[in-house]
Amino acid sequence: MPHSVTPSIEQDSLKIAILGAAGGIGQSLSLLLKAQLQYQLKESNRSVTHIHLALYDVNQEAINGVTADLSHIDTPISVSSHSPAGGIENCLHNASIVVIPAGVPRKPGMTRDDLFNVNAGIISQLGDSIAECCDLSKVFVLVISNPVNSLVPVMVSNILKNHPQSRNSGIERRIMGVTKLDIVRASTFLREINIESGLTPRVNSMPDVPVIGGHSGETIIPLFSQSNFLSRLNEDQLKYLIHRVQYGGDEVVKAKNGKGSATLSMAHAGYKCVVQFVSLLLGNIEQIHGTYYVPLKDANNFPIAPGADQLLPLVDGADYFAIPLTITTKGVSYVDYDIVNRMNDMERNQMLPICVSQLKKNIDKGLEFVASRS
Ligand code: NAD
Ligand code: LMR
Repeated sequence: MPHSVTPSIEQDSLKIAILGAAGGIGQSLSLLLKAQLQYQLKESNRSVTHIHLALYDVNQEAINGVTADLSHIDTPISVSSHSPAGGIENCLHNASIVVIPAGVPRKPGMTRDDLFNVNAGIISQLGDSIAECCDLSKVFVLVISNPVNSLVPVMVSNILKNHPQSRNSGIERRIMGVTKLDIVRASTFLREINIESGLTPRVNSMPDVPVIGGHSGETIIPLFSQSNFLSRLNEDQLKYLIHRVQYGGDEVVKAKNGKGSATLSMAHAGYKCVVQFVSLLLGNIEQIHGTYYVPLKDANNFPIAPGADQLLPLVDGADYFAIPLTITTKGVSYVDYDIVNRMNDMERNQMLPICVSQLKKNIDKGLEFVASRS
């Protein structure tokens, strides 16, 4: 019998837990991480010898199959399968990053808000497990499940309210809603329209377009005025682009015709995010500069980080907002409020007020859900 050389999944490993890993996003994201992650990383100067993917899903058969399949891929990243039968603790224990695509997706005719009742229950349960099993002073939690605008408030307020060990842990600086897909879409659609207009961007270049606010309809504010890409957009093109980014999710839901929502593009967007967090935790980079949907106030109702106090009046007191951030291993360390000052008149006077009024309702819905649970 050959001696088992399975590495111990303990102190020397950087562990990424994916909750809902047997689903459409979970499978594709796990594949990208298992197959590609090591190519993105420089030699670590921390004492990490390997990276481990802990895959959890309530569908036991499916997650066992997905994990067995992934485990044959010839990369140095190890994988393990977890389900309620063996307990979520084994998945979450020692995890540095928890990614959550668990929950139900939309069908045609549904809004993201229609998912709230089911997914808020799932998110608060998973939040309880994270609070019980993870080191709240270190772990990063990335929430993909919808509606992001309401579920991040559920995740943050549930942990702070119901888990005393969260006090002074700073966990609220490390829980983030993933809105990267909106940024990915804005970049893709802008490049497309430029080509249609006769411009010839370089074959390997993509525009950067900041997108702020939330993750649904008019809460999504793509800031084409602040794109780095040379573009001559007329009014119609701009209107078309804004609408397409705000309702890009509907486009995919309609095309899949009852078989779910965006999975592959979301896995790609999520992968880009996870790579950044792994690079940060391995010491390859000192800070992440990225946009996430985060609370702007901490457990004591103080601004979460420098910049948040300036942002809050600009967004009329919306306590959660997607905005470019600087993130260190301790969590959000700077909120780039100035991006709001740089908005043009239309973005600031028309788009922002609509975004903020809808966002506040979404946030309140999440907070009320947690408050109503004993
Ligand atoms: P899916 O149905 O394919 O997968 C969801 C998985 O979650 C399933 O395998 C299911 O068994 C699992 N699950 C359900 N309850 C669970 C629990 N309590 N613990 C662990 N796993 C659980 O759905 P999908 O297409 O992968 O989408 C997942 C979620 O992501 C949806 O809510 C969707 O709306 C959202 N989403 C968000 C974005 C974004 O930009 N943030 C983009 C696309 C989809
Ligand atoms: C998306 O933007 O594609 C996701 O939020 C999924 C959805 O329901 O649209």
